[in-house]
Amino acid sequence: MITLGLMNILLGKLRKIAYFKPVIIENSVNNKDINIETMIDHFGLDVTYKDCYAFTYPELLKLRSEGNEAFVIDTIITKYKKLEDTHDFVLVDGMDFEGEGASFEFSSNVEIAKNLSIPLILVAKGDGFSPDEVTNKILSTIQILRNKEVELLAVIANKLNPLDVDELHEMFARRLPKTLLTTIIPYTSELRSPTMKEIVEGVDGKILFGENYMSNPVDNFIVGAMQLSNCLTHLQENTLIVTPGDRGDIIVAMIQANLSKNYPKVAGIILSGDLAPDEPIVKLIEGLETVVPVALVTTGTFETVNKVASVKSRIYPENNLKIELAINIFEKNTDTISLLDKIGTSHPEGITPRMFQYELVKRATLQKKHIVLPEGSDDRILEAAAKLLKQEVVRLTILGKKEEIEASLQRLNIELDPRNVTIINPAESPLLPDYINTLYELRKDKNVNMDMATDFMKDGSYFGTMMVYKGNADGMVSGSINTTQHTIRPALQFIKTRPGVSTVSSVFFMCLQDRVIVFGDCAVIPKPTSEQLAEIAISSAESSKMFGIEPRIAMLSYSSGASGQGEEVEKVRRATELVKSRRPDLAVEGPIQYDAAVDPTVGKQKMPNSKVAGQATVLIFPDLNTGNNTYKAVQRETGAVAIGPMLQGLNKPVNDLSRGCTVDDIFNTVVITAIQAQQE
Ligand code: ACO
Repeated sequence: MITLGLMNILLGKLRKIAYFKPVIIENSVNNKDINIETMIDHFGLDVTYKDCYAFTYPELLKLRSEGNEAFVIDTIITKYKKLEDTHDFVLVDGMDFEGEGASFEFSSNVEIAKNLSIPLILVAKGDGFSPDEVTNKILSTIQILRNKEVELLAVIANKLNPLDVDELHEMFARRLPKTLLTTIIPYTSELRSPTMKEIVEGVDGKILFGENYMSNPVDNFIVGAMQLSNCLTHLQENTLIVTPGDRGDIIVAMIQANLSKNYPKVAGIILSGDLAPDEPIVKLIEGLETVVPVALVTTGTFETVNKVASVKSRIYPENNLKIELAINIFEKNTDTISLLDKIGTSHPEGITPRMFQYELVKRATLQKKHIVLPEGSDDRILEAAAKLLKQEVVRLTILGKKEEIEASLQRLNIELDPRNVTIINPAESPLLPDYINTLYELRKDKNVNMDMATDFMKDGSYFGTMMVYKGNADGMVSGSINTTQHTIRPALQFIKTRPGVSTVSSVFFMCLQDRVIVFGDCAVIPKPTSEQLAEIAISSAESSKMFGIEPRIAMLSYSSGASGQGEEVEKVRRATELVKSRRPDLAVEGPIQYDAAVDPTVGKQKMPNSKVAGQATVLIFPDLNTGNNTYKAVQRETGAVAIGPMLQGLNKPVNDLSRGCTVDDIFNTVVITAIQAQQE
């Protein structure tokens, strides 16, 4: 959890970070170290697996027993230096193998830190110890580190009994050196519960059904040997059922209990004794839409239960939920700004996609806004909502029928924190009459009568937009089901443009491999005039600034400078002149071709005196055909994350999603909407 948390905050500040675990333990499944795999996979680190370690634990023991200490240290230094040469920062993860060799591991960690000349963060285990014992352990370690002249940056006490946290804070303040940064992380049972994947691996099971739900957490287990009704009464949240495979009654009932709102969620089912379910039961299960993981084992019930009890939970690459939870818990309990300060990270030029996304979430969290999501019938919206609420980024209102949304949440195994979410069915809402009247008043001159206003207002896009108009929500995100037109038309009709702006347009933040650039407009105005193009450019530069990207605007065309002629080139030339005269403070170049705009060599060659050519950050497309297809081409062909479209120029934030959006796209769009709302 701590290395994940540290890596996450470091990647918010630095470009290229490596992870190095000098000594690893390989797991029995694929003979790899789970920590390295998780780091590379989750953060997309630019390192090979082999670069990330020097020795396996058995190798280390053997070399030491043969007196090859010098070789061990030399190899570790060589591998570390190789990473240091090619990265801005190397996060070194010491040995943390619980068990007999603890003191040997500690002295090895200290020795490695000393030889690599790197400071240390001490992680103290809190479970099973009183505040006094934890403090004493830390104080004696500080003494050892002082004697060895190893710098200590911070102390993290982990897995503390939540009841002891306050006392420990007070004790740290009294007894530890004042300059030492301290963090206390309470024990979280969710992080300790193994997932079905870990259980199935631990019992050598063969998965028969429910492969998509292998991240289900297992909080407890029961043996399904009793009568079905008794079995049901023993169910608690996230229970695993171990039962012989011929108990078709229990198998089917548990799968149904998972879907029933009257029973808690079932984690999965293990069938013991190598007894696969009978054919009619298999047929029944195959016809169901949602099935919890069901796995078959060869061992008997007693042996299987013993194995289940001994499975330990780990954080592994595919378990995104646990990774995100770990990162959240770390951030919630740590003064990350002071920690980064201590580590001494500096701010490099430009902004990487990861820094960008990290900063976005941080900013949104600083002042929590209330966002309405009208498409509660879409599973992706509910999954994104869960992620947003878990990370405490925003408050949400989700529109839709309460029972249907609750059934979907149950089916998806998702819980939404009720303190931060409200579900509203527009058709039954007490707000409806006032909203209808308001719409009628606003649009009666546009031939809208009361009947039409009533019909419109039962639609989620209208209702959600009216919530924003009325100040009952700070922003709206929609479009995972509805088209762009359907989503943004209500906003154009009555949220209207902000003072000084007459055109609503949009930008995408294109997260390329090593930088973030802004594309505008790729979603709203089909054939902009020169006037509109100039407005798009100015709004896009403002949006770019709002999100920390220094704007250098390229007005794109098929001509660079005076090289080409034609009506379309003239349109871009006129728009560029308008931007220059209205906003002399902005760096703008146009007409310019895409290659001359972004490639320093081509830029220099084609427009040697331009401040923008070769280093443009805001790219303005001449029309929607070009813009929309270019953003999609870049996204599909390079794997870039496209955040947006973010609408600009509206009085209040409303943003559109693409119908092919992922849960992460929705998450990102809500985050930028919340940040826009903070500017109001
Ligand atoms: N800025 C400000 N106001 C606008 C804008 C604009 N860009 N466009 C329309 N309006 C206003 C109009 O003035 C009008 O106001 P009024 O009714 O009070 O007089 C109101 O909005 C409706 O105008 P219409 O001309 O009827 O516009 P319509 O609703 O038909 O279309 C729309 C507007 C939806 C933006 C249209 O231009 C469009 O379809 N654009 C393309 C959307 C699209 O398909 N994008 C590509 C897919 S997105 C993606 O791939 C992520």
